[in-house]
Amino acid sequence: MEVTVEQFSQLYEQAKPLEDRIAIQQAYGTRDLTEWFLDLAKPQLSETVLDIGCGNGHQLFGVVTKCRSGLGIDLSEALLDTARQAAAARGLTNVRFLKASGDQVELGLERFDLILCNFAIYYMDVARVVAKMRQHLSPTGRVYIMGSPDENARELLEIHRRATPFLPSVYAPGFSDIRKYEPLLRQTFGACTFHQFINPLRFPSPEVFVAYYTSTTLFQSSQAAVEGLEAKIREISRAWWQEKQEIRITKIVDIAELGRPRS
Ligand SMILES: C[S@@+](CC[C@H](N)C(=O)[O-])C[C@H]1O[C@@H](n2cnc3c(N)ncnc32)[C@H](O)[C@@H]1O
Repeated sequence: MEVTVEQFSQLYEQAKPLEDRIAIQQAYGTRDLTEWFLDLAKPQLSETVLDIGCGNGHQLFGVVTKCRSGLGIDLSEALLDTARQAAAARGLTNVRFLKASGDQVELGLERFDLILCNFAIYYMDVARVVAKMRQHLSPTGRVYIMGSPDENARELLEIHRRATPFLPSVYAPGFSDIRKYEPLLRQTFGACTFHQFINPLRFPSPEVFVAYYTSTTLFQSSQAAVEGLEAKIREISRAWWQEKQEIRITKIVDIAELGRPRS
């Protein structure tokens, strides 16, 4: 299922929601996805990296500090701006950014040793972006694709459902489940291994949970359809907190590893 341009521009035209989401996940999560990923992918100082749908560059920065150079591409001007500013603030001179759609980008003869596409492939024409990955992967390179299976953040959805039956298309069952691409990925890259990263988040108060909820694409793509959604969620999360003395959600990430895994 492809997301229309109108839906997409609502989701990522502002940088703040994604930035808030990442910051809250980092503050209240039990584990760090980037650290875990670096341990899996083991980037080398001689290698180059391409991040398709890089967002604010958060994950790319972790990788590029261990590599020769990196390129991040994204469609959102706002997120690319934040990524460029963050790269400058960190003094990173080996990373550049390009505004382009992952399924249409023209990168000439460039080849990359590592290609990432995290929480973004399902917004693109998947056959085309996978062909681009194959085209621009070095002969010994590897590709990592992240997505969220339906079991991800069940509690978030349960709280949302207490407020409204409305479910946006980006939360339809299977939308961000990358396992559905397995036949295409195997056919294109041969080896395809799935890994899973599980990260429980424990919020310190209902207010922090509400801040997290309002940073999600679930809220952003529901708020126009559901009147007073934020106020309803605030009330429900306070009651949930009173009843259970906590709010936790469990983030579950699937990672497809393609090409040549490092031994
Ligand atoms: C959930 S965010 C993930 C960002 C980043 N990969 C991360 O893990 O933090 C999805 C990103 O995909 C980008 N995106 C969506 N459609 C795209 C397309 N066709 N080409 C490039 N980027 C796209 C959005 O702008 C957004 O930055």
